[in-house]
Amino acid sequence: MTADVPDVRPARLALPSYGRPRGVHPPLDYPGYRSTGLRHPKKPLVLLPQRLTEVTGPLLGDELITPTDGDLTMQHAGEPQGQRIILTGRVLDSGGRPVPDTLIEIWQTNAAGRYRHAREHHPAPLDPNFTGVGRAITDAGGNYRFITIQPGAYPWGNHHNAWRPAHIHFSLFGRAFTQRLVTQMYFPGDPLQPIDPIFNSVADPKARQRMIAEFDIGLAQPEWALGYRWDIVLRGRDATVFEPGQAR
Ligand SMILES: [Fe+2]
Repeated sequence: MTADVPDVRPARLALPSYGRPRGVHPPLDYPGYRSTGLRHPKKPLVLLPQRLTEVTGPLLGDELITPTDGDLTMQHAGEPQGQRIILTGRVLDSGGRPVPDTLIEIWQTNAAGRYRHAREHHPAPLDPNFTGVGRAITDAGGNYRFITIQPGAYPWGNHHNAWRPAHIHFSLFGRAFTQRLVTQMYFPGDPLQPIDPIFNSVADPKARQRMIAEFDIGLAQPEWALGYRWDIVLRGRDATVFEPGQAR
């Protein structure tokens, strides 16, 4: 390039990157959770530069989410079996500020502990009125709200007599494809938690506690539903643990 020809090449998009914080999230290879041995990365991760597509997508609008997306009890002709629950909370950043307009997707078993999935082997009954999938977008205050059914425990074949504690899977899409976070929310007082390898793959007891929703009688509605509250903190000292056994 000669001195009298201007350089019109576009500047490289420079974005901050965040390393995986040590000692917070569970190891990607955790012997107690056998299948992580097959699917964890065997080589050092390669940091890919983020370009416009990764940073600007997906473009989600409120009109894409309907009220029944967040009410898993109203997605079929009849009402599902089981204990109705209201599940709400806030998505917060590391400074405690609400994160608005973020898409949250959930998936879970029905009341009998069965997923509606082609590879599900648990011989518990399907519920024709329950799919177990929902989504919602946080409001200006970072609040989300679902109405659903208390999920059941289910066997998972990891070891002899292995049962997963009741849980709901959460995915937070973020503002870009590269920001997606996946985790699980548990229920208070579940006797299966102390013996669950996925729950216990999170080493820090305080971090494990942050995966458990809080029962809130003030949130329950008389003659209708119980209530649970669970805040999701994206980063920082009080961060919610992400990626613990997202497949199960
Ligand atoms: Fe699960």
